[in-house]
Amino acid sequence: MNDFKDKTVLITGGSRGIGKATALAFAEQGARVGINFKSNRKAAEETLAELSGKGHELFQFDISKKDAQRQLIDDVVSKFDQLDVSVNNAGISIEHDVVDDNLDHWISAFENTFQTNVFAAANLSFLAAQHMIKHRGGRIVSISSRGAFRGEPTKPAYGASKAALNAMSQSLAKKLAPHHIYVGVVAPGFTETDMATKTLTPIERENLLRESPFKRMAQPQEVAHAILFLASQKAAYASGSIIDVNGASYLRS
Ligand SMILES: NC(=O)c1ccc[n+]([C@@H]2O[C@H](COP(=O)([O-])OP(=O)(O)OC[C@H]3O[C@@H](n4cnc5c(N)ncnc54)[C@H](OP(=O)(O)O)[C@@H]3O)[C@@H](O)[C@H]2O)c1
Repeated sequence: MNDFKDKTVLITGGSRGIGKATALAFAEQGARVGINFKSNRKAAEETLAELSGKGHELFQFDISKKDAQRQLIDDVVSKFDQLDVSVNNAGISIEHDVVDDNLDHWISAFENTFQTNVFAAANLSFLAAQHMIKHRGGRIVSISSRGAFRGEPTKPAYGASKAALNAMSQSLAKKLAPHHIYVGVVAPGFTETDMATKTLTPIERENLLRESPFKRMAQPQEVAHAILFLASQKAAYASGSIIDVNGASYLRS
């Protein structure tokens, strides 16, 4: 059985990194994929060209903006007529520090991080759920982070935003189950993408690799695999779960 044949999937930040691997995996399973991205059109077009199957579309919107959130869901539904799976993947992380920051930078780091990582995911989940309720079902999967659980001393807003995303998703899982809408979260550790690797020095990279007994980072495809699992038919009863994909680097009880 192919769960995603002729299903429609929206992936925010679907042009690069984990979002791209997820787009490729859904397309491979026969889904039509809507790839949202913010500014890097070249990367988005390259990803689109790599997708198997037909009918995929790009949707360029900065999801941190309220109007863009509504427009994105409207455009996806009008283009595809349906929305079966919505993946809240786009996220940002900003370095900031409770010891050395000034208050303005502290505030702007929290505001900007929450706009994308929490408010956009919350509003897009609301809008997707409205559509899915009418169409008697769907899946919402959000990408959180190991940082929600283990503390993020150099990115406290990021850790807090991912903890908020977890809590929101679990609340939605309870409320939406009677509507046949199932909600899950994947919480990766360091994953080989631009976000994680762009600014690393060789020593930082070495230290990172030591965090996991696997002595490596996750590959985006490994995170995508967990996303597809949560979006699949047989995972309905796993609604409300948070799946760690962190190479046993941080084990929570
Ligand atoms: N990589 C890791 O180690 C890691 C670990 C744990 C959790 N995560 C989470 O996994 C998710 C994906 O991370 P990644 O590493 O794959 O990211 P990435 O490689 O930096 O890619 C980010 C993607 O998000 C898009 N994006 C960013 N801000 C956006 C906005 N305001 N509106 C629309 N699109 C936006 C980017 O589009 P443009 O290219 O057009 O800007 C791009 O497609 C994030 O939520 C992140 O927090 C990542």
